[in-house]
Amino acid sequence: MKEQLDAIKNGAEAELESAGSLADIEELRLKYLGKKGELTSVLRGMGGVAPEERPLVGQMANDVRGFIESGIIAAKDRLQKKERLMRMESDMIDVTVPGKKPRLGSRHTLSIVFDEFTECFIGMGYEIAEGPEIEHDYYNFQALNFPLGHPSRDVQDTFYITDSILLRTHTSPVQVRVMENRKPPIRIICPGRVYRSDEVDATHSPVFHQVEGLVVDKGVTMGDLAGTLKMFAQRIFGESTDIRLRPHYFPFTEPSAEVDVTCWVCKGKGCRTCKQEGWVELLGAGMVNPWVLQNCGIDPEIYSGFAFGIGIDRVALCKFGIDDMRLFFENDVRFLSQF
Ligand code: DAH
Repeated sequence: MKEQLDAIKNGAEAELESAGSLADIEELRLKYLGKKGELTSVLRGMGGVAPEERPLVGQMANDVRGFIESGIIAAKDRLQKKERLMRMESDMIDVTVPGKKPRLGSRHTLSIVFDEFTECFIGMGYEIAEGPEIEHDYYNFQALNFPLGHPSRDVQDTFYITDSILLRTHTSPVQVRVMENRKPPIRIICPGRVYRSDEVDATHSPVFHQVEGLVVDKGVTMGDLAGTLKMFAQRIFGESTDIRLRPHYFPFTEPSAEVDVTCWVCKGKGCRTCKQEGWVELLGAGMVNPWVLQNCGIDPEIYSGFAFGIGIDRVALCKFGIDDMRLFFENDVRFLSQF
C-alpha cells in the first residue's frame, strides 16, 4: 500500500507539472482526489491493512492528499501567472510606431469664392438671407415683373415641378421674400444655388451659383450702387480694379446695367481670359423697379433701392484657371484638394 501511495504521489507530481491549462488541472484533481479517484480507491482498501499499520498508512495517505492539494494550488497559480504574462505581451503597445496622419479635406472651390464674397459684404454691414431652391413662379417671376407668358422669361427656362412651382432660375426671388417680411433699411446678400435648363458643357451647367444683393433705404442712388460694387471689386480683385456699367434690361430693375470689372489677369491690357476686351463681365445690377417695391409693400415715394446678382461659377473658373465647369460637380478630391 505504501508503494501504491508513493506511485500516486509521483504520478500526480509529474502530471501537474506538465498540465497546460486550468481544465487539465481540474481533470487531474478528479483523477486523484475525486470520489472515483485513485487516492480514494486506495483509502477504500484500508480494510485490508493490518490494524497496527493503519494509523501509519492513514497518515501517509493524508500526507499524499495534502501534497496533491498544494500541488494543484501551485499549478493553478503558475498557469495564471503565465496567462497574465502572455496577455500583457499581446496587449503591449509600441509607442514608437509612427502615427496615422488624418487626411484633412479642403473647402470646395465654389465655397472658397462664396466665402470671399460674403465676407466682403458682411464687412460692409450686409446680412445673409436665404430662400428656397424650389420656388413659386410668383416669387421667381411674377413679383419681379416677369408677367406670365412674357418673353423676358425665355432666357431663364428652368425645371418645373408643377405649373406654378419650379427650381429657381436666380437668387432674385429672395429679394421679394425679404421685402415682404421686413421694413427698410434693408441690406442683405443671398448666396445660393440656381437652376436653368442648359445643356452641360465646359461653360454651362443646369446648376450654378449666384450671390444676390439688395439694399433698400431712403435716398439710395445709382451712385451708391456703383460705389458699393467698385469697393467690392477692389477688395476681391485688387486695388487697381475698376468697374464699368453698361446699360441693360432686367424687368425688376430700372435702370439696369451689366457690370464689368478690369480683367484681373492682364489688368486691362487684353488677354485670353477677357477675350482681349480688358474687361470681364461679372454681374447684373440696377435700381429696384418702383413697381417691385410697391408690390412688396414698400412705398417707392419714400424708399429706393439697388440690387445686384453675381455669378459665382465663372469667377471661380477664371480665378483658379479652371477650364471646365463640370469639374466643380464631379466631386473628385484630386481636383478639389488643389485649391
Ligand atoms: N437675376 C439676374 C440673372 O440671374 C441677375 C440680376 C440682375 C440680379 C440685376 C439683380 C439685378 O439683383 O439687379 O440674370
